[in-house]
Amino acid sequence: MTVLLVTSRDLPEGEPGAAALDAALAARGVDAQWVAWDDPSVDWAGAALVAVRATWDYTERAPEFLAWAASLDQARLLNGADVFSWNHDKRYLLDLGPLPVVPTAVLTSGAQVVAAVESLGTAVAKPAVGAGGEGLVVLRAGLLDERAASSYVTRGSVVVQPLVESVRSHGEVSVFVVAGRAVCQVVKLPAADEVRVHEEYGGVSRPVPLDPACVEVALAADGYLAERFGRRLDYVRADLLWWEDRWVVSEIELIEPGLYLDTVPANADPFADLVVQTVERVGWSPT
Ligand SMILES: Nc1ncnc2c1ncn2[C@@H]1O[C@H](COP(=O)(O)OP(=O)(O)O)[C@@H](O)[C@H]1O
Ligand SMILES: [Mg+2]
Repeated sequence: MTVLLVTSRDLPEGEPGAAALDAALAARGVDAQWVAWDDPSVDWAGAALVAVRATWDYTERAPEFLAWAASLDQARLLNGADVFSWNHDKRYLLDLGPLPVVPTAVLTSGAQVVAAVESLGTAVAKPAVGAGGEGLVVLRAGLLDERAASSYVTRGSVVVQPLVESVRSHGEVSVFVVAGRAVCQVVKLPAADEVRVHEEYGGVSRPVPLDPACVEVALAADGYLAERFGRRLDYVRADLLWWEDRWVVSEIELIEPGLYLDTVPANADPFADLVVQTVERVGWSPT
């Protein structure tokens, strides 16, 4: 029985800290292999399960990536192509029902961006399809002309939000939910002069105990998504920011949320359990 852990070509060994996941799967008798989603030699149909983990390059080729996901047997793909399709574009932030969310506008012209920034004072603009903080800019009222503003409208749209200043003090909190259970919380702080918490920009992540207020929002997201998609999702990472005296959703990662294995190797265990339980439930064996 082979489980395919899906990565990108530039990360052939998987996400940071992947050895912990390899070990957790091996300890459960699972033969796991890291493969790139766009490698034509992979036998997807021969796998007991496909788990997307580190396909960080999908944002450049989203239609191709989504077509690949849709071509797989959905019963043997964690979370599923319909979930990926919904989640790959930050427009989903407008479709989160009753969940508390950072105020978000999806805009389509430079004039709209200028008007939004003028009313917000200080704002963040980021590509609707993007990851790793790429393309994110901080914009200030009075300093933005329409021509510059329109350069942020890529592929027809741009996401604009107020700059949530507390990212510098409270950080961004990630709560990982696996099969309906909150399993870990990480707080990520940006470097001075940055709002992006990613390591590439000098951000630092550390595990912290589960905070009931954060878990409540993450589980509400998990519950909302279960209703939205008609089934409980396999994994959900809720990224939260502190805004107007409460934790609100900044992002929900349903495609390739890193498990923070380099700082929390124990996070491999619930994910490995999810893999084993799903393989048993799907009950697939090679013919
Ligand atoms: N509205 C905001 N206010 C403050 N910081 C933000 C805001 N939006 C994003 N950030 C910072 O930028 C990072 C990247 O933005 P995010 O929405 O997570 O996009 P992605 O991770 O998909 O690139 C976040 O992790 C956070 O540190
Ligand atoms: Mg993010």
